[in-house]
Amino acid sequence: MEHIFKTKPLKMLLDEMKGENRLRRVLGPLHLTSLGVGCIIGTGIFVLTGVAAHDKAGPALTLSFCVAGLACILAALCYAEFAAMVPVAGSAYTYAYATLGEVFAWIIGWDLVLEYTVASATVAHGWSHYFQDFISIFGFHIPKHFSNAPFDFLPATGHLVLTGTWFDAPAIVIAAIVTVILVIGIQESATINTAMVIIKVAIVLFVIIVGAFYVKPANWHPFAPFGYTGISMFGKTLFGQTGKGGEPLGVLAGSAMIFFAYIGFDSVSTHAEEAKNPQRDIPIGIMASLVLCTILYIAVSAVLTGMVPYDKINIDAPVSDAFRQVGLPWAQFLISLGAIAGITSVLLVLMLSQPRVFLAMARDGLVPPSIFGAIHEKFRTPYKSTILTGIVVATLGAFIPLRILAELVNIGTLLAFVIVCAAVLVMRKIHPEVERPFKCPMVPIVPIGGILLCLMLMFSLPAENWIRLIVWLAIGLAIYFGYGRHHSVLAKERAASARA
Ligand code: ALA
Repeated sequence: MEHIFKTKPLKMLLDEMKGENRLRRVLGPLHLTSLGVGCIIGTGIFVLTGVAAHDKAGPALTLSFCVAGLACILAALCYAEFAAMVPVAGSAYTYAYATLGEVFAWIIGWDLVLEYTVASATVAHGWSHYFQDFISIFGFHIPKHFSNAPFDFLPATGHLVLTGTWFDAPAIVIAAIVTVILVIGIQESATINTAMVIIKVAIVLFVIIVGAFYVKPANWHPFAPFGYTGISMFGKTLFGQTGKGGEPLGVLAGSAMIFFAYIGFDSVSTHAEEAKNPQRDIPIGIMASLVLCTILYIAVSAVLTGMVPYDKINIDAPVSDAFRQVGLPWAQFLISLGAIAGITSVLLVLMLSQPRVFLAMARDGLVPPSIFGAIHEKFRTPYKSTILTGIVVATLGAFIPLRILAELVNIGTLLAFVIVCAAVLVMRKIHPEVERPFKCPMVPIVPIGGILLCLMLMFSLPAENWIRLIVWLAIGLAIYFGYGRHHSVLAKERAASARA
């Protein structure tokens, strides 16, 4: 039993990096930053901003973006220190294995499935909605039965309701297309991604620059109609107003929701093995993509809430609809197109990251290597787990509603960030001697600040998410004790050396 708390020796990790069966090192700093931006700007800014402004924060959504951005920047500094120190594919999973022990590594690896696979399903949904918005401009419609998940959760009543549809067909189609692209290869995927990143950043700049001319400062009053806080503890509001369904409201509650918009910067660290010069370029990729997106988000949210009174913001396609409301219907075409490109690249990078985390777990024996460790001979990609990820994304995207998926992803990712910040502190204590090509500044203030801010955002999410997170982790632990613990490479090596 005791080995479940054993840590993976740093030397073992560094030796592994020199071994066989590695991925190709083809990514430079620009590719990595663009992978980061590719994964960040998507459903969060194009879709969730609407609900967050309308229901949770009002014009003070700009502040919500500042708070969530700050939490991510603190966590990103911790990620960057680790990623430069141990540039292997597993990201936070590997960092936890090296510092906190196998069972924590498993928990975070399982948690990263929430961040990557479940987030991909969320994003596939967002893609579907903008796709349907786009084709409606030309008078086309997907038959209702195939246009959405069959049920939804209404926070106002706290109940699940049937939507009258069967499943979301466009979500399945996009998941299938992205899976095929990813099996073919990382370099091709990175190039497609770069093209889409250019389109979406151009559209976001368009929204900011053109939208600025239509801002009416009167729309920013009242600035924070739901207050500046919004924290609850397992369903009991501690600070701020409470919504009809008992959920917290205010700037922080808004932050907890639009936190989704920032998810993805850490995916840069899952590509450490494919970076040409990971020690230098991974920290650059993480920080550059995050800072760029934070600035863009703050500007977009200020413009959006200035263009349209917060209670008139559309909650399905808020950005394109704001331009329609100010009398620029042609912009709907441009923005929907940009959103489709933008959201596709998010899906591409998220679904690229998941198999890389599995690959690291397979090497350690915690998931079956025959599936999750298999690398395609010709394409050099982890093709079996990419296909498996695609199937799960398509299934979840088809049947589970966007809101439930998004909140679950947020709480899971926030937990991953808390663990990474804590792991930096632990690593500085147990391995002060190891070379750190990038050093997180102001330790322990930055990691502790990251932990506190992420915990605060976890408590600003509606309470049912804690239950979902606990159920998710319990399923994960059952799998670990049923499989991983017995197949762990570290455990086998220890047993062998004990016999010798
Ligand atoms: N940050 C990504 C998005 O907003 C996950 O779509």
